[in-house]
Amino acid sequence: MSNSRFCLLSLVSILSLLIITTTTNLVAGQRCHPDQTETLKRFKNEFAFSSSCTDDTHFLSGVTCDNVTGAVTVLKLPGGCLRGTLRDNSSLFELSHLRHLNLSFNNFASSPLPSSFGQLHNLEVLLLSSNGFLGQVPSSLRNLTKLTQLQLAHNKLTGDLTSLLQNRTSLVALDVSSNEFYGTIPSFLFTMPSLSFLDLSENHLSGPLETPFSLPNLRVLKLSYLNITHQLDLIRVFSSLKSLTYLDLSGISLTPTSVDSDINFAKSLRVLLLSECNIYEFPRFVKSLTNLEFLYLSDNRIKGNVPDWLWTLPHLTSLNLYNNSFTGFEGSLDHVLANSSVQVLDMAYNCFNGSFPDPPLFIINLSAWNNSFTGEIPLSTCNRTFLDVLDLSYNNFTGSIPPCLGNINIVNLRKNKLEGNIPDEFHIGASTQTLDVGYNQLTGKLPRSLLNCTLLKFVSVDHNRINDTFPFWLKALPDLKVLTLRSNRFHGPISPPYGPLAFPKLQILEISHNRFTGSLPRNYFENWTNTSLKPDDEEKMYMGDYSSDRFGYEDTLDLQYKGLYMEQGKVLTFYSAIDFSGNKLEGEIPESIGLLKALIALNLSNNSFTGRIPMSFANVSELESLDLSENKLSGEIPHELRRLTYLAYIDVSDNQLTGEIPQGTQITGQPKSSFEGNLGLCGLPLEERCFTEKTTSIEEVEEEEEGVLKWRAVAIGYAPGVLFGLAIGHVVALYRPEWFIKSYGQNRLRGVGSL
Ligand SMILES: *[C@@H]1O[C@H](CO)[C@@H](O)[C@H](O)[C@H]1NC(C)=O
Ligand SMILES: *[C@@H]1O[C@H](CO)[C@@H](O)[C@H](O)[C@H]1NC(C)=O
Ligand SMILES: *[C@@H]1O[C@H](CO)[C@@H](O)[C@H](O)[C@H]1NC(C)=O
Ligand SMILES: *[C@@H]1O[C@H](CO)[C@@H](O)[C@H](O)[C@H]1NC(C)=O
Ligand SMILES: *[C@@H]1O[C@H](CO)[C@@H](O)[C@H](O)[C@H]1NC(C)=O
Ligand SMILES: *[C@@H]1O[C@H](CO)[C@@H](O)[C@H](O)[C@H]1NC(C)=O
Ligand SMILES: *[C@@H]1O[C@H](CO)[C@@H](O)[C@H](O)[C@H]1NC(C)=O
Ligand SMILES: *[C@@H]1O[C@H](CO)[C@@H](O)[C@H](O)[C@H]1NC(C)=O
Ligand SMILES: *[C@@H]1O[C@H](CO)[C@@H](O)[C@H](O)[C@H]1NC(C)=O
Ligand SMILES: *[C@@H]1O[C@H](CO)[C@@H](O)[C@H](O)[C@H]1NC(C)=O
Ligand SMILES: *[C@@H]1O[C@H](CO)[C@@H](O)[C@H](O)[C@H]1NC(C)=O
Ligand SMILES: *[C@@H]1O[C@H](CO)[C@@H](O)[C@H](O)[C@H]1NC(C)=O
Repeated sequence: MSNSRFCLLSLVSILSLLIITTTTNLVAGQRCHPDQTETLKRFKNEFAFSSSCTDDTHFLSGVTCDNVTGAVTVLKLPGGCLRGTLRDNSSLFELSHLRHLNLSFNNFASSPLPSSFGQLHNLEVLLLSSNGFLGQVPSSLRNLTKLTQLQLAHNKLTGDLTSLLQNRTSLVALDVSSNEFYGTIPSFLFTMPSLSFLDLSENHLSGPLETPFSLPNLRVLKLSYLNITHQLDLIRVFSSLKSLTYLDLSGISLTPTSVDSDINFAKSLRVLLLSECNIYEFPRFVKSLTNLEFLYLSDNRIKGNVPDWLWTLPHLTSLNLYNNSFTGFEGSLDHVLANSSVQVLDMAYNCFNGSFPDPPLFIINLSAWNNSFTGEIPLSTCNRTFLDVLDLSYNNFTGSIPPCLGNINIVNLRKNKLEGNIPDEFHIGASTQTLDVGYNQLTGKLPRSLLNCTLLKFVSVDHNRINDTFPFWLKALPDLKVLTLRSNRFHGPISPPYGPLAFPKLQILEISHNRFTGSLPRNYFENWTNTSLKPDDEEKMYMGDYSSDRFGYEDTLDLQYKGLYMEQGKVLTFYSAIDFSGNKLEGEIPESIGLLKALIALNLSNNSFTGRIPMSFANVSELESLDLSENKLSGEIPHELRRLTYLAYIDVSDNQLTGEIPQGTQITGQPKSSFEGNLGLCGLPLEERCFTEKTTSIEEVEEEEEGVLKWRAVAIGYAPGVLFGLAIGHVVALYRPEWFIKSYGQNRLRGVGSL
C-alpha cells in the first residue's frame, strides 16, 4: 500500500485550519474562574508530563475562558505533553462548558476512549487524533449533538460508525482515518448538508459506494484503502460535488467506463489521488480538471503513451506515474513536456523507451529510474535551473554525462551505458550532495573539481573503468560519508605517505576489486572521527534522506556483507563498513583497526595480508561481519574475539592460521567452510581435535557455558544483529521506495525483524 497522503500533509493541514478558523470564534487569554483553574491543575496532575511541558504557563497557554462566567471553553494542549491513562473519572470531564477541545498527538497509553466525553455536551470541536486510544467508541459520544468537528484519526478505535454519526446534521469536518472501524459506510454521510471535510481512509469500512453524493459544501474527500471490493463509478457517484478540491480514492478499483469518460467533473479539484485504482487507461476526465495541481496515478496498469494534453493543464505541479506500463509520450519530445508547469515528476518503474523528452522548464525533482530509455541524456537538462534531484538510474542511456552535475543536489545515473569521463566541471559553490554513477562504462580519472562540492556526502562510482590512484584529496570534503570505488581500475597505495587516512566523516569505504597495492601503517585507522553509533545530527534514520513535503529520496547502496548481497539497500545513518577485498594489499592488518568501535562490517579478503589477526579486533564491539579469507595470515585466532557478541559472520578460510578455534562462542556456530584451507586449525566447528587440549577445571567449563548462554541471549534479542536486521530487512521489504513518498515511519516498522 502506498501512502501518498504523507507528502500532501501540509496542504491538508492548511485546509483543516481554514475550517477551524471559520467555525470557531474564540478569544484567547481571558481570565478563568479559580474553580476552573483548580480543575485544570488536577487534570494536569493526572499525567506524567514530558520535561518540555512541565511549567504551568506552557500548559495554560492553550486555555481560554468565557469572559463573563470564567468557565473554560477552549482547551488546546500542545501535542506530546500528556502521557498516561485518561480515565472516566478524570477532572477533564468536569469542564462541562468546553466548546473546543484539542488533545491530539498526546499518548494515552492504549486506553479506551472514556465514555465521560459524553458529559461535555457543549463541545463543538473535539480533536483526539494520534493518541493511542483503543477499542470501541463509547455510545455516549452520541450526546455531543453540537459537534461541528470530530477528529479521531490514527488511533486503534473500532465499532460501527452508523450509530456514532446518525443525525449529526451540523457536522462540518469528520476525520476517522487510520483506525479499525468496520461495517458499511453509512450512506447518510453522503447527504449531510454542512459537511466540508470527510476522511474515512484506512479503515475496514466496506461499500457499496453507489449512491451519488449530494454534499454541496464538500471540499475534501478521502476514502483511500477501505474494504471496497466492487468497482466504483467515480463520475456517477461524485459528479455532483461542485466544491471538491481534494479527492483521494487510492486503493479503490474504478470502473473502466468512468475512467474513460470525458464528462466535466469536479472542475474545482486541486488534488486527485488515484494510486492503486486498477486503472488500465489514462483517465480522460482529467483533461477538464483545469485547476489540478497534484495528480497521482502510481501503482496502476496504464499502458501506452502519456497524452499530450496532460502537460497543458495550467496548474499541474506534481505528477506521479510511478509503477505503470507507460511506453512513451504523445507529441514532440522537444516541446511537449518543456512548456508544462510540472515541477515534481515521477515516471519511474514503467516501460518508457526511446529518447528522453526535454524536461519541463521549471522542473525541481525528476525521477525516471527503472525504464528503458535510450539515447543521450538531453543537454536541455543542464538548462533547468531549478533542478534539485535527477534520478535516471536503471535505464539504457548512452553517450556522455552532461557537464552540469554541479548544479544538481542529487544525481543518480546508476546502471546505464554512459561513457567517457565524469565531467570535470564542478564549479565553486557546486551543490551536489549525492553522486551515483555506478555500473556504467566511465573511464578517465575522478574529477578533481569534486573538491568544489563541499556538501558532498555520497560518492559511488563503482563498476566502471576509472583508472586513477586513490583519491586522498577527497579528505578535504568535510561531510563525505560514503565512498564506493568498487570494481574499477584504481591502483597504487591506499595509504598516504605519512600517517593515517583520517577522512573526517567517512562511514562507508568500499574499494574492493581494484588494483590497490602496498601496506598499511599501524596508525592507518586513527582519527576516523565517526566512531559512535547513533543517528546523525539531523536525527534521520537513513543516509541521504532528502525528504521535503513534496518528495522523498534516500541514498541506496548494494550491501555486501555476511556473505549476502542486496541491491539498492537503504543505508542507516549509523552504519559503518569497510571493504578492501580483492586488491593486492600486503603487510600486517593495522592494530589501529580496534579504534573503529562503530564498524559493523569489515572485509579484507582476497589480499596478501600477513602476520597475526590483531587482538585489537576485540574492541570493534559492534562488528557483525568479518571476512579475512584468502590472505596469508598466520598464528592463532585471538581468543579475545569471543567478546564480539554481535559477530554473526566470520570467515578466515584460506590463510595459514594454526591452533585452537576459540571454543564455546559464536565463532564455533559458523560453518566449517569459514575455517577451511588453513595450516593447522583445530576444534569446533572443524572435525580436527586439538592434541594439546588443556585440562579444563569445572569452573572454567561453567564459565565457558555461561559465555555461550550470554551469546545466545544476545542472539535471541538481536539476531541476526540489530543493525543488520534493520538494514537487510529494509532491502528485502523494499526494493527502493516509491520516490515521492515519505514512508519513513512505516518502513522502519516493516524493516525490523523481517529477516
Ligand atoms: C466577551 O467576548 C466577546 C467575544 O468573544 C465579546 O463580543 C464581548 O463583548 C465580550 N464581553 C465582555 C463583557 O468583555
Ligand atoms: C491540535 O493540536 C495539535 C497538537 O498541538 C496541533 O498540531 C493541531 O494543529 C491542533 N489542531 C487544530 C485543528 O487546531
Ligand atoms: C479514578 O479512578 C481510579 C480507579 O479507576 C482511581 O484510582 C482514582 O483515584 C480515581 N481518581 C479520582 C480523581 O477520583
Ligand atoms: C447522554 O444523554 C442522555 C440523555 O440524553 C443521558 O441520559 C446520559 O446520561 C448521557 N450520557 C452521558 C455520558 O452524559
Ligand atoms: C435521528 O433522528 C430521528 C428523527 O429526527 C429519530 O427518530 C432517530 O431516533 C434519531 N436517531 C438517533 C440515533 O438519534
Ligand atoms: C471486507 O468486507 C467484506 C464484506 O464486503 C467482509 O466479508 C470482510 O470481512 C471485510 N474485510 C475486512 C478486513 O474487514
Ligand atoms: C506496482 O503496482 C502493483 C499494483 O498495480 C503492485 O501490486 C506492485 O507491488 C507494485 N510494484 C512496485 C514495485 O511498487
Ligand atoms: C538495455 O539494452 C539491452 C540490450 O542492448 C537489453 O538487454 C536490456 O534489457 C536493456 N535494459 C533496460 C533497463 O532497458
Ligand atoms: C538553454 O537556454 C537558452 C536560453 O534560455 C537557450 O538559448 C539555449 O538554446 C538552451 N539550450 C538548450 C540546450 O536547451
Ligand atoms: C572549482 O571551480 C572553479 C571554477 O568555479 C575552478 O576554476 C576550479 O579549478 C575548481 N576547483 C578544482 C579543485 O577543480
Ligand atoms: C591507466 O592509465 C595509465 C596511463 O595514465 C596507463 O598506462 C595504464 O595502462 C592504464 N591502466 C589501465 C588498466 O587501463
Ligand atoms: C589525531 O588527531 C589528533 C588531534 O586532532 C592529533 O593530535 C594527532 O596527531 C592525530 N593523529 C595522527 C596519527 O595524525
